[in-house]
Amino acid sequence: MICVIIAAAGQGKRMGGTVNKVFLPLGDKTVLAHTIKAVCAAAAVTSLIVTAAAEESETVAAMLTAMQVTVPWQVVPGGSERQHSIANALKAVPPDAKIIVVHDGARPLAQPELFNQAVAAAGEYRAAIVAVPVKDTIKSADDNRQVTGTPDRRSLWAVQTPQAFEARLLITAYEHAVQDGYLGTDDAALVERVGAKVKIVPGSYENLKITTPEDLAFAEALLTKKLEGRQM
Ligand code: CTP
Ligand code: MG
Repeated sequence: MICVIIAAAGQGKRMGGTVNKVFLPLGDKTVLAHTIKAVCAAAAVTSLIVTAAAEESETVAAMLTAMQVTVPWQVVPGGSERQHSIANALKAVPPDAKIIVVHDGARPLAQPELFNQAVAAAGEYRAAIVAVPVKDTIKSADDNRQVTGTPDRRSLWAVQTPQAFEARLLITAYEHAVQDGYLGTDDAALVERVGAKVKIVPGSYENLKITTPEDLAFAEALLTKKLEGRQM
């Protein structure tokens, strides 16, 4: 059994508007509706949990109902940080789930195949994350913006979601993070710190996270290109 958790309980502050960015329109539906559709199109998925802010839970449940999602689904309340939202969702994961996949609600253009590939890799390696090689040269710098180093770009990957894990491993990693008061910037970081190896599944630059208004404009362009490709 494969349970997917979609994190949608953020506020979208960097988008600058007044609504949670996952409810913004993208093409013919909302960002979150695209994300749900992509997840449900992945053959490997057998159940779905969406984390939503308390006041948005009904909207999300109505969306799942309207989309006639056929796998069993639940909407669970989010927390103040993404990690807390995922921790809440983990409590609702069905006990027979073998693999848990975590995905950002704000990544509407993830190809369904990415979920299948992440799940397959997690089955083999216990933990797998989708990522793309970084295009820019990355520098590290101190608080005064003084450059402190230039890591070799060939070893750098920009990490995305989906991220897939053996269920027990992810749950244990989250328990340790709570015990230690550790807050990571992705789910794999929690798994890495309990000593597990994480495998990279090469992803797609199109699987962008909608964070600022430019991202939405770029996603619109990618979606248009995709639809035109289908009509040809
Ligand atoms: N998320 C969540 N719970 C939170 C924070 C974020 O479920 N407490 C979700 C968001 O809804 C988003 C995903 O995690 O789909 C990735 O987070 P991010 O891009 O940072 O979204 P926001 O936190 O909403 O945006 P911002 O940081 O700009 O406020
Ligand atoms: Mg955030």
